[in-house]
Amino acid sequence: MKSFAQQLDVFPAENQIPEEYRITELHQREYLINGEILPWDGSVQEVLSPVYIKQEGRLERKLIGSYPLPNTEKEAMEALDAAVKAYDNGRGEWPTMSIGDRISCMEKFVGRMIEQKQQVVNLLMWEIGKTLGDSIKEFDRTVEYIYDTIEALKDIDRASSRFRIEQGIIGQIRRSPLGVVLCMGPFNYPLNETYTTLIPAILMGNTILFKPPKHGTLLHYPLLEAFRECFPKGVVNTIYGRGNTVVPALMKSGKINVLTLIGSSRVADQLKKLHPKVNRLRAVLGLDAKNAGIILSNADLELAVKECLLGTLSFNGQRCTAIKIVWVHRSVADQFLKRLNEEVDKLKPGLPWEKGAQITPLPEPQKPAYLAECIQDAEAHGAAVTNEGGGIVNESLFFPAVVYPVNSQMKLYREEQFGPVIPVVPFDDIEEPIDYIINSDHGQQVSIFGTDTEEIAHLIDPLVNQVSRVNINAQCQRGPDTFPFTGRKDSAEGTLSVEDALRSFSIRTVVATKDTEGNKEILNDIVEKNRSQFLSTKFIF
Ligand code: G3H
Repeated sequence: MKSFAQQLDVFPAENQIPEEYRITELHQREYLINGEILPWDGSVQEVLSPVYIKQEGRLERKLIGSYPLPNTEKEAMEALDAAVKAYDNGRGEWPTMSIGDRISCMEKFVGRMIEQKQQVVNLLMWEIGKTLGDSIKEFDRTVEYIYDTIEALKDIDRASSRFRIEQGIIGQIRRSPLGVVLCMGPFNYPLNETYTTLIPAILMGNTILFKPPKHGTLLHYPLLEAFRECFPKGVVNTIYGRGNTVVPALMKSGKINVLTLIGSSRVADQLKKLHPKVNRLRAVLGLDAKNAGIILSNADLELAVKECLLGTLSFNGQRCTAIKIVWVHRSVADQFLKRLNEEVDKLKPGLPWEKGAQITPLPEPQKPAYLAECIQDAEAHGAAVTNEGGGIVNESLFFPAVVYPVNSQMKLYREEQFGPVIPVVPFDDIEEPIDYIINSDHGQQVSIFGTDTEEIAHLIDPLVNQVSRVNINAQCQRGPDTFPFTGRKDSAEGTLSVEDALRSFSIRTVVATKDTEGNKEILNDIVEKNRSQFLSTKFIF
C-alpha cells in the first residue's frame, strides 16, 4: 500500500497529461467595454495553475495564460462611464426594453455560452483545481440557473401584467432596475456564483461592471464575445486589475447603485464605506461563514460521518457553505473520530481530471502554509491531528487533517479556514455549541445530527434565529437553487435564489391614478396602443 506522501505524488510530466485535458496557453489581450472588444497592450497577470508539472526533476506550476492587469483605475472608470451611459438614468435601451425582449437576448446568450462548455470546464480544472465532475456540474448548474431565472422572471412579469384597484386608486406594480451594478464573484465557484448575481442583475434591466475573481479569470474569456453579441452596448463591461487598485475609485464615484460581491466581509465593509451616498447603495453580498456541524449523543454516526465528510471536504473544503467546525457530544466523540479518520484517510488525492480524485490542488498559493500554521497553533494549544495522512503536503496538494480536541484559544475555532482541515470540538452540554453560534460573527447555516425528535425540535427553534438554514442529518449546502440562500450577521446581505435574486436586483415601482373616467381613458389608451413598456397588460406566454 502506498504511503500518504506517495499518494500525494501525483504531478505529471507534460506528456503524461491525457490529450483531451491538455491546455493551450490562453493569453487574453482584450477586454469588453461599451459593446466593443478592445485590444489590450498594457501589463498582464500571468496565470499559474495550481497543477504542478514535472520538468527535469523539478516541480513547477504550469503557466496556462495571462490576462490584462491595469495598474491604474483608468480602464475601470471607462467601463463605469459606459455602464452609466447605457443605463442613461433608466432611459437607456436596456432598462426600457420589454421583459420579453430582454429574455430573448438572454436566451441567445445561453445558447452561445453552451457552445463554450468544453473550454470553460477545462479552464475550471486548470485554474482552480476543481475536479472534472464538479467543473461540469458547475457549468450545467449555471446554465440551468439561467433558464430557471428566465422562467421566474416570466412568472413575475405575468403577475405584474394587470392593474389593481383599491380604495379608489388604480395602480400597476412592476419591478424596475436599480442602475449600475458592480459584480464581483469568488474563486471557488468563479462561474456559478458570479452568474447567480450577474444574470439576474442583467435580466432586471441594470447595466453591469463585471470583475472576474483573481483565480478563475481566464475561464470568463471565452464568454466575452457572447456578452458583446447578445446585449446592447454598455450593458456588460469587464474590469480587470487588483481589486484594491481599481475598485475604490469606482465606489468613490458614487455612480455604483448596487455592489454585489461574493467574498469577504472585510472587503465588503471597506467598499461600502467608500460610497459617498451610502443610502443610495444597495448591497447584495455572500460573505464569510463558519458553519457548525453538531453531532448529538444519539446521532446515527455512520450518516453523520458521511455527511460531515461531504460537508467539510467537498472541493477541498473551499465552499462558503462548508461545515468548518464540528461539535461532537463527548460520549460519542471517540467513535465518531475513529470513523471520520478512517474515511478521511481513504480519500483519493489526484489531478482534477483523474477518475475518482477527491483531493485536488489548492489554487491559493499561500493556502497550504496557512493551513499548516492553523494546525501548529492548534497543537500548541493542546490538540493533535488524529488521522494518519492529515496535513501531509506536496506543493499545492494538502491531505485533509482532522484536528481534535479544538478549543476557543485556537485559530481553528474562529477563523474560516476555507480548506481541508476539520476542527472537532467535544461538548458535554448542548448550550456550548449554541453559545458558540450565538457569539460567532457568522450566521449562514448549521447541520444537526441526531435521532431524538424532541432534542432536534428543541434545537431548531433557537437556531433558526441565529442562522439562515438549519440542516437536519444533512450537510450544509446552497442548493436547490430555488431555496433562499442568505445569512445573518457577517455572512450575507440580501437573499439569492432563482426568484429572490431577481427581487434583490430590482425595486417595486407603482404607476397609480385616481379612479375617474378621464384617468381610465388615459390608461386604456396607453395600454391599447402599446404606448408604454411599464404600463402594459401584455402577457408573456
Ligand atoms: O461557496 C458557496 C457556494 O454557494 C456553495 O454552494 O453549497 O451548492 O456547494 P454549494
